[in-house]
Amino acid sequence: MRFEDKGVIITGATGGIGRETCFQFAAEGASLAVTDLDLELAERLAAEIRAQGGKATAYQLDVTDVDRTVEVVAAAAADLGSLDVAFCNAGIREIVPAQELSIEEFRRVIDVNVTGVFTTAQSVAKHFIAAGKGGAIVNTASTLGVVAANARCAYASSKHAVVGMTKALAMDLSLHNIRVNAIGPGVIRTPLTERYFQDPEMHEKIKRLHAMGRAGYPPEIAKGVLYLASEDASFCTGTHLVIDGGWTAGKTM
Ligand SMILES: NC(=O)c1ccc[n+]([C@@H]2O[C@H](COP(=O)([O-])OP(=O)(O)OC[C@H]3O[C@@H](n4cnc5c(N)ncnc54)[C@H](O)[C@@H]3O)[C@@H](O)[C@H]2O)c1
Repeated sequence: MRFEDKGVIITGATGGIGRETCFQFAAEGASLAVTDLDLELAERLAAEIRAQGGKATAYQLDVTDVDRTVEVVAAAAADLGSLDVAFCNAGIREIVPAQELSIEEFRRVIDVNVTGVFTTAQSVAKHFIAAGKGGAIVNTASTLGVVAANARCAYASSKHAVVGMTKALAMDLSLHNIRVNAIGPGVIRTPLTERYFQDPEMHEKIKRLHAMGRAGYPPEIAKGVLYLASEDASFCTGTHLVIDGGWTAGKTM
């Protein structure tokens, strides 16, 4: 039980990776602030966690709303009694060739995936510093924080930024005993990617993309998140833990 008496806030909590991570944190004793765009979905997830014996409270949060982000972090700290971990996970992506991508869509992806991670991490860091006891922040990056893919210019830009931001946050916050790391999933079967699996040709491409010949599953990412958030990773900050079945290891010739 690595998170007994620990408060954990999660953004984008009701999606594929967020949801599974919530259950793994709850199983290890954490009290959860389950946040997402849709309050009803967040409340349903919090109720499921409580029904399994976990501790969870739901909050509506759009991470592009800075004032609301500050408000929810403060509310979560008060409601949970202690705030020790943040999983900045909310994210969106486009599938449009760069030459056809509108500036509005580009800005929207950057706003959610980059600015949203920054404002969540900054709000939580201020809280950790005021509370004087350190903490851990895990940001969701991607293999597309390391390499690019066609038709994902905004997304790849945003995830490269998350990898850089994680290092920069780690530099500023380590003196306050706050560790900041990122997780880099390969293709994981979630609502974000489900359409790939409905298309046999695309599904084959996904298999070939990964050296292990398959996509990953949310529990395989959640385990990495819990590692980075826990004392098991006590000497780990500014890193990007890629969990991608060998996608970025190389290409098959
Ligand atoms: N699934 C993959 O293959 C994969 C691979 C690499 C990285 N990721 C990243 O993992 C994270 C989670 O993705 P997922 O696959 O679980 O996707 P998902 O679509 O299932 O979940 C994303 C969640 O983010 C929430 N969200 C979207 N915009 C938001 C906003 N403005 N404010 C707050 N919440 C918002 C959604 O409501 C949803 O709950 C994302 O950052 C994504 O980029 C996913």
